[in-house]
Amino acid sequence: MADKIKPTVLVLNGPNLNMLGKREPEVYGSTTLDEINQGLKKQGLELGLEIQCYQSNSEGALVDRIQEAYEKVAGIIINPAAYTHTSVAIRDALLLHNVPIIEVHLSNVYQREEFRHKSFVSGVATAQMAGFGAMGYTMALNALAKMILEV
Ligand code: DQA
Repeated sequence: MADKIKPTVLVLNGPNLNMLGKREPEVYGSTTLDEINQGLKKQGLELGLEIQCYQSNSEGALVDRIQEAYEKVAGIIINPAAYTHTSVAIRDALLLHNVPIIEVHLSNVYQREEFRHKSFVSGVATAQMAGFGAMGYTMALNALAKMILEV
């Protein structure tokens, strides 16, 4: 018998997050993006969710990936990184989707420079996590699992 198809969660990370572990560890922690993604895949296996991970430093590539996911994913976790504070294009692309979207930030952006207090994404996201470090992704996936699997 064929395996039951699992709902897919797309995990998106924006610019400079490929450098996690090396980049300002006092702000972003020592966990690498690869470690975060591997952890989410393992957690997905336990929750019964398929996890797809994508990182890009390019705004257009992130928009392309969000479009590609149209009607193919049950939920999205996104850390748009610096594009959080600048990108109408990413916000508009997310509006295509009628699925739960969790915005994640490793740092507590509200304790930082004022330009980081404005998010173009939070208005179209279901919820936001900020300041939990890498644990924010784990919490976001647990929350999404509840939203997707317990409806
Ligand atoms: C970030 C916060 C952003 O302001 C910053 O540009 C990042 C990372 C975070 O995860 O805390 O690159 O999204």
